[in-house]
Amino acid sequence: MNSQLQDGFGRSIDYLRISVTDRCDFRCVYCMAEDMTFLARQQVLSLEEIERLARLFVAHGVKKIRLTGGEPLVRQGIVGLCAKIAALPGLRELVMTSNGSQLGKLAQPLADAGVKRLNISLDSLKPERFAAITRTGELAQVLAGIDAARAAGFARIKLNAVVMQGRNADEVLDLVDYAVQRGLDISFIEEMPLGQVGRSREESFCSSDWVRERISQRYSLIDSAEQSGGPARYVRIQGHADSRIGFISPHSHNFCATCNRVRLTAEGRLLLCLGHEHSVDLRALLRRHPESDAPLLDAIHAGLARKPQRHDFSIGGEVQVLRFMNASGG
Ligand code: 5AD
Ligand code: SF4
Repeated sequence: MNSQLQDGFGRSIDYLRISVTDRCDFRCVYCMAEDMTFLARQQVLSLEEIERLARLFVAHGVKKIRLTGGEPLVRQGIVGLCAKIAALPGLRELVMTSNGSQLGKLAQPLADAGVKRLNISLDSLKPERFAAITRTGELAQVLAGIDAARAAGFARIKLNAVVMQGRNADEVLDLVDYAVQRGLDISFIEEMPLGQVGRSREESFCSSDWVRERISQRYSLIDSAEQSGGPARYVRIQGHADSRIGFISPHSHNFCATCNRVRLTAEGRLLLCLGHEHSVDLRALLRRHPESDAPLLDAIHAGLARKPQRHDFSIGGEVQVLRFMNASGG
């Protein structure tokens, strides 16, 4: 059977995000609590199990896979997994989201393994602030990682910044300058209410419209219809053909109508929507049926039929999704 994956609203699902670990060497304030308990080893999918699922999804029409975490590069054996997934017939591109801390040594091996593009988180260019936002990160190491990635020959590198009032909102223009000077793309992200991170998010909320207005003070922005297969809306910058600026706005511009993705958590749960708890336990099926993919495929189709129409984030009210971002795969 070569059934393409579709949800109950007729949306084709051709993009799979896979969290290869819930662990991370950082503790970003919007993503984790300071003191986290991580999954035990046997709860996490093995590299072979991840590869088996990737193969199955690609055989049924998935064209793009993004590896995320936690931090994907803290998983042992990640480069070998990338090489196997990149070689799956029918896959258009394998991409990765990383915090950049390990790229100094891994950028080139990843590019050689067939990873096409990287998204690298960068919320501040001030060392003390970067340390405060990530709690354990070191800015110089990440900037060196970005340089290594630029030298490694990826088709595109995009920076991601979560903008928070009182933390880094005053650095929006500096971050754009940094990206533009290096011909990189940059996306600005509204913070999403995932997990109790031990502080109120209302105070720090910063809308994409505010960010765009701020950037317009220095750069002439040109609207663009470009899509990267993700939820970002892109603009071009007059006089800087190599860089694009993206806005990811789960609050102010709902992007669910064009949703083409599902997520696989590190423990093998298929998440149908970032904003809902509903999931399908693929790990149990993987382990119960080592030889046959049919039960997995049935469960995936049944799950997709129940994929929600849209997320329902609100900044003020109760936290509805108790998962942390590191458990969801970015
Ligand atoms: N809201 C928005 N983006 C988040 N990320 C992590 N947690 C959140 C959140 N609560 C994004 C950041 C990070 C990437 C791995 O996931 O952009 O760079
Ligand atoms: Fe780690 Fe990324 Fe979460 Fe920061 S946002 S703690 S880098 S997984």
